[in-house]
Amino acid sequence: MTALEDAIRARRRRWLVTGAAGFIGSHLLEALLRLGQEVVGLDNFATGHRRNLDEVRAAVGEAAWARHRFIEGDIVDPVTCRAACEGVEIVLHEAALGSVPRSIENPLATHAANATGFVNMLVAARDAGARFVYAASSSTYGDHPALPKIENLIGRPLSPYAATKYLNELYGEVFARCYGIQTVGLRYFNVFGARQDPEGPYAAVIPRWARAMLRGEACTINGDGETSRDFCYVANAVQVNLRAALIDDPDALNQVYNVAVGGRTTLNELHAWMGELLRERQPHLRVAAPVYASFRAGDVRHSQADIGKAQRLLGYAPTHDVRAGLADAMDWYVRRFGPGENARVAASI
Ligand SMILES: NC(=O)c1ccc[n+]([C@@H]2O[C@H](COP(=O)([O-])OP(=O)(O)OC[C@H]3O[C@@H](n4cnc5c(N)ncnc54)[C@H](O)[C@@H]3O)[C@@H](O)[C@H]2O)c1
Repeated sequence: MTALEDAIRARRRRWLVTGAAGFIGSHLLEALLRLGQEVVGLDNFATGHRRNLDEVRAAVGEAAWARHRFIEGDIVDPVTCRAACEGVEIVLHEAALGSVPRSIENPLATHAANATGFVNMLVAARDAGARFVYAASSSTYGDHPALPKIENLIGRPLSPYAATKYLNELYGEVFARCYGIQTVGLRYFNVFGARQDPEGPYAAVIPRWARAMLRGEACTINGDGETSRDFCYVANAVQVNLRAALIDDPDALNQVYNVAVGGRTTLNELHAWMGELLRERQPHLRVAAPVYASFRAGDVRHSQADIGKAQRLLGYAPTHDVRAGLADAMDWYVRRFGPGENARVAASI
């Protein structure tokens, strides 16, 4: 990443990170502040947390933190979006309501943030003359059976969440065509890492399981455990965002890209690996056998990316495979939920 980091450091730009108090957004914020950039963060704390911002502040130090301005606001409000985009050259748009089951239970809330909020942000970025790099999703592949997934072969969306993420891509392309704005869509495949929220009914599998294992509870596997995913460590996702933000090859712009590692891990493998990694860190930990439950509505059976397009056009080169990423992530979850740390963390929330 050094050439890329040097290119970013070479000039101080103003960036907007939406969803900055969330999981991926907080990592983008941290990376940009470390690289000497000026960053506006926007979040309404729908699913993000102040403690994520506090953690970034502690990690980058006060001098870097002074280059960050945080706006607590909702992207459903166009005035907020416009204010956040003032003087911004690059928007990294992460704010959205994630989770397939959440969208099935509450499609209106998902639509408001992910569709209306998205168009509000596109308009604001267009008017500011900013490049718009946005979080798309592997859920756009829907029911298409091909594996690995190649960007131009998509099926029908399987959930309201997937429909909104596909809509984002359509709008990204249409805004590029109609208004000349530069857009790049990043179809994330199961991103994981520090600060991914383990709480609540819509938590992603890795943080949910890490917390359960550290508490001596059994993890629930939806289905037979042979469901597979291309789990992608957050450092890889940060790298693609930075590359997409700076790329000047016109062929690479106004495109969507898979963001993953190109591997395939079953839930049974994931459970075993996480157990091993946690026991290496907590030798006395007893990891309970998983409990198998029914398949979840709207979930696809297998997901694996072809990452060739991002490698070719953006120069993407993942630095962490699943196990390396899991090892990093487990260190964080042990600090967050391991014995002796609960009280300290609870006090800081
Ligand atoms: N994590 C993954 O595996 C994954 C996979 C595919 C796509 N994505 C997409 O990546 C993006 C970031 O996901 P994440 O995992 O960091 O989730 P997250 O929930 O941790 O972060 C999303 C952030 O957006 C904020 N937000 C939500 N609605 C908002 C609104 N109306 N106004 C302002 N802020 C709002 C939330 O408070 C939160 O801080 C999302 O767009 C998500 O759909 C994530």
